[in-house]
Amino acid sequence: MQNIENKVAYITGGTKGIGFGIAKSLVENGIKVVISGRNIEDVEKAKAELGSENVLAIQSDVRNFDDEVKAVEQIVASFGQLDIVIANAGLGKFAPVDKMSLEDWNAMIDTNLTGVFHTMKATVEQLKQTKGYYISIASLAGTNFFPQGAGYNASKFGVVGFTQAAMLDLRNYDIKCTTIMPGSVTSHFNEHVPNEEDGWKIQPEDLGQMVVDLLKMNPNVLPSKIEVRPTKTK
Ligand SMILES: NC(=O)c1ccc[n+]([C@@H]2O[C@H](COP(=O)([O-])OP(=O)(O)OC[C@H]3O[C@@H](n4cnc5c(N)ncnc54)[C@H](OP(=O)(O)O)[C@@H]3O)[C@@H](O)[C@H]2O)c1
Repeated sequence: MQNIENKVAYITGGTKGIGFGIAKSLVENGIKVVISGRNIEDVEKAKAELGSENVLAIQSDVRNFDDEVKAVEQIVASFGQLDIVIANAGLGKFAPVDKMSLEDWNAMIDTNLTGVFHTMKATVEQLKQTKGYYISIASLAGTNFFPQGAGYNASKFGVVGFTQAAMLDLRNYDIKCTTIMPGSVTSHFNEHVPNEEDGWKIQPEDLGQMVVDLLKMNPNVLPSKIEVRPTKTK
């Protein structure tokens, strides 16, 4: 089993939901964690909730490549290295394709798909140095299509294809790549407010535990694409 203590992880979109849950699990396992979001006040608030000195809060909008480059400069200046990247930032807007606005389409493609590439491009040289791990949070919507999902499906099918192709390129540098494809998770996704009826869903910490298990795995083993769903429907 790999020793993961004192590794440095960057989680995009760590202010709430899945990213925040993964951050909690990584902090509990002795990893130095960097979280980001579009608004620094929200990122600082999440950092305070995590309650650890080993957390760095960064403002970065993944739609902006320069933000991601600056984020990596801050991470290396603060922690000296970067071992783990979780490309998690994302959003969903749902409408029949004939009613979908350009604004919602662009928001999803720019954040969910181009953002994942920006994060990769900004971090990959650091990952080469540490023989690190890049994990994208795609979705079951990256393999199952559904009505009103044209934009979200397009972005998440894209993330799955992107991460699998990147995996084939980057294993030559001993960098692991995995895409995690969750079904329903308790979070603030699509303006949802987490409540007591969310108990049947995957919880963000469950995905945090999954990330920890992946990081600890024998270096010779790579689960490259993971579908994960609630055991039962509602
Ligand atoms: N919830 C589900 O059922 C589910 C299932 C499968 C996959 N997913 C995927 O999981 C990921 C996380 O979503 P979630 O469910 O945790 O939703 P969430 O609770 O709404 O959290 C979304 C996170 O993404 C960040 N974010 C959004 N746009 C960003 C941008 N342009 N730059 C940087 N950060 C940005 C948000 O930060 P700020 O708002 O602070 O900027 C927030 O931290 C998404 O990729 C989503 O597609 C969710």
